[in-house]
Amino acid sequence: MGDRTVSASSTPSVALVVGAGRGIGLGFVRHLLAKPEMQVYATHRSPSPELQALAGDRLRCLPMDITDEAQISAAIATIQAETPALHTVINCVGLLHDGPLQPEKSLRHLNAEQLSRYFQINSIGPVLLAKHLQPLLKHSDRALFATLSAKLASIGDNQLGGWYGYRASKTALNMFMHTVAVEFRRTCPRAIVVTLHPGTTDTELSAPFQGNVPPEKLFSVDRTVTQLLAVLDQLTPSDSGGFFSWDGSRLPW
Ligand SMILES: NC(=O)c1ccc[n+]([C@@H]2O[C@H](COP(=O)([O-])OP(=O)(O)OC[C@H]3O[C@@H](n4cnc5c(N)ncnc54)[C@H](OP(=O)(O)O)[C@@H]3O)[C@@H](O)[C@H]2O)c1
Repeated sequence: MGDRTVSASSTPSVALVVGAGRGIGLGFVRHLLAKPEMQVYATHRSPSPELQALAGDRLRCLPMDITDEAQISAAIATIQAETPALHTVINCVGLLHDGPLQPEKSLRHLNAEQLSRYFQINSIGPVLLAKHLQPLLKHSDRALFATLSAKLASIGDNQLGGWYGYRASKTALNMFMHTVAVEFRRTCPRAIVVTLHPGTTDTELSAPFQGNVPPEKLFSVDRTVTQLLAVLDQLTPSDSGGFFSWDGSRLPW
């Protein structure tokens, strides 16, 4: 970012996208940079060429593995040294599959190590992020803190079963973020905390499972980001703590 020092009065809007190297996170960075008033921080585990190509005066990239609290703390400290406030935070980190780690079709596929990895990335990392973000969301402007969840997290909507680790870790994420919202009502009263279902989106995460998805239900990253930004625009403080779908409807817990 320009002179790396940004005051709240001179900066209409400062955003942070976590998990920005690819997929939906990279899409958010592109869309946010299209707004000339936006200063954007973006985190990655290792910088992708696509993200690096966007870096410039209004985009600063920082390393953050969400399973390592020291890295979360260091990235947030760097941001805090440069700006007193974040107005939009979107956490797009998520794990569904990774090589031999595949969503469990039935109980016989469960193992503790895999379940633990799902929870480390999809639930525990995001709530530790909330812990470190708190000072940057405590200001007098509207602030949004959105985390990408999944409709599969809904207990009420679960008719199909399977995918134990991914489902349960996203359900835990929803509870963590709802609880953060309750605490932020006291500590960061202008912050709106939500979890979002992006809809099935054409990324590496969904690629192996797109076979049964009708084309009209498989969104491009661009479409998903446009839809989610429209949902975020409409949110009011009374929505904080909620779990919303890409069309703005509330999802059952
Ligand atoms: N795509 C869909 O259809 C869909 C549907 C429902 C929900 N979602 C949710 O939407 C979010 C974004 O998904 P996507 O489709 O964009 O997935 P993706 O393309 O697979 O991207 C996943 C992102 O998570 C990051 N990540 C994974 N482990 C991490 C870790 N330990 N620390 C930091 N970052 C880590 C990845 O970084 P690296 O590049 O370093 O691996 C990458 O930026 C996820 O939370 C996902 O569960 C997606």
